[in-house]
Amino acid sequence: MHITSDVSKLSAIVDDLASQGWSQQADFLPAELVSALAAECRRRAGDGQLNPAGVGRGGTLEVREAIRGDHIRWLEPGESSACDRYLDTMDALRQAINQGLFIGLEDYECHFALYPPGAFYRRHLDRFRDDDRRAVSAVIYLNQDWQPGDGGELRMFLDDQRVHDVAPTAGTLVVFLSGDVPHEVLAAGRERLSLTGWFRRRGNEPF
Ligand code: OGA
Ligand code: MN
Repeated sequence: MHITSDVSKLSAIVDDLASQGWSQQADFLPAELVSALAAECRRRAGDGQLNPAGVGRGGTLEVREAIRGDHIRWLEPGESSACDRYLDTMDALRQAINQGLFIGLEDYECHFALYPPGAFYRRHLDRFRDDDRRAVSAVIYLNQDWQPGDGGELRMFLDDQRVHDVAPTAGTLVVFLSGDVPHEVLAAGRERLSLTGWFRRRGNEPF
């Protein structure tokens, strides 16, 4: 079976985004693909390919571990078959969102993220003040056997003052509207791996 043929999962996400602005899907990817992506993330970390993430953008990008302590590596197409299968799946999701919500998402940018034990990412929105192209955020978690006491939850702050926590369990995908859902990553007692990305609209290019 080709993984992008699971249309019902994609339409469930589109429906959730329309009705509540976020969606959580367990087992979004086949387990063997999740393991391959986790192994690739660990291998790249071992090879020194992950770097401390910055806060802000362009000239104001700086590393501030009091805000976020993860290490990241941006993905390019053609680097591995596991990454390409993942990018293909996310492109199918991009098209499903465009058909269902008329947003006009143009591309998807994503990075591996590794949070060492104790690292966190303080409450924030995934949209830069000077660049509103990021429209929909998507995170897939790569952690086998995550236990309730391990921490590392994604905490989303929803409209009605509720919070919703997501454990970073292997295969779970979370999708939310980048400009609408403030969120944070709680510290974990063990290493926490993910692929984090953003579907982007066309920007207002300066003339
Ligand atoms: C981010 C982020 C959430 C997560 O990288 O912007 O909020 O659960 N990540 O890893
Ligand atoms: Mn975020």
